[in-house]
Amino acid sequence: MIDLRGKRALVTGASRGIGAATARLLARAGADVMIGYRARAADAERVAAELRATGVNAFARAADISTREGAESLVGAAVAELGGLDLFVANAGVWPAAEVGVVDIDDTRWLNTMRENVDSVFYTSRAVARIISRGGRIVLVSSTAGQRGEPFHADYGASKGAVISFTKSLALELAPRDVTVNSVAPGWVDTEMVAEPMAQEGKATISGSIPLGRIATAEDIAGPIVFLCSPLARHITGEILNVNGGSVLCG
Ligand SMILES: NC(=O)c1ccc[n+]([C@@H]2O[C@H](COP(=O)([O-])OP(=O)(O)OC[C@H]3O[C@@H](n4cnc5c(N)ncnc54)[C@H](OP(=O)(O)O)[C@@H]3O)[C@@H](O)[C@H]2O)c1
Repeated sequence: MIDLRGKRALVTGASRGIGAATARLLARAGADVMIGYRARAADAERVAAELRATGVNAFARAADISTREGAESLVGAAVAELGGLDLFVANAGVWPAAEVGVVDIDDTRWLNTMRENVDSVFYTSRAVARIISRGGRIVLVSSTAGQRGEPFHADYGASKGAVISFTKSLALELAPRDVTVNSVAPGWVDTEMVAEPMAQEGKATISGSIPLGRIATAEDIAGPIVFLCSPLARHITGEILNVNGGSVLCG
């Protein structure tokens, strides 16, 4: 039903987790995909090879997108390899695992989280906004933490709150070009990012705290992202789509 043949997509942080699941689903819908990653070359190349085996064009490119140079080189590579850009998913991010109260967060942690989760989204989105085709789609991955805050991870919550606000600003700026900009805000997702707290708290305890009674898989997040990338979502822009099993009910 979702046909993205002929569309050219860039997904950041697609060597694993939510980004890899999104890249796979975009390819299943027929899109050509550039996979961005930072360090895990073997994982990224494996995902790219998997996509190519389904008949689409797929490439993987390493770049630290928390820097302007890295972000712009990734977007430039996507345009060069794919011939342009129609779909952009800003998914890469970090979640500093250590619990630290606001009074003890040091400057290094604060600035690093902002660089990884906010600067990266700004630098890539700015470069993409300059060249994305008319009718294009941008999806920025935020978090429930950006909606309701996250005690002892205030840096992370603030960074994702910034992504949510940025989504709305960019949506209004790009609307005249028929480019939609939305955010998907996941709750708990079973990926490497949160493997440690999941092991500590126990998956059963976490599942029990979620109204739908289960922890999301990466594919549970990829589906709504691809929906927002599709023609089915052409009249949705500036929206924050919570994908959290009912954990946080706000828009
Ligand atoms: N998992 C959750 O429970 C959860 C909940 C809410 C929101 N989210 C958000 O969802 C997104 C994806 O999360 P995930 O769980 O799939 O993460 P993950 O499994 O830790 O994967 C992170 C991805 O981002 C890439 N990356 C990180 N920093 C980068 C940088 N500076 N430059 C380029 N690439 C970078 C990594 O590349 P390498 O593989 O090369 O290191 C990897 O591909 C993040 O924005 C996260 O905040 C996750």
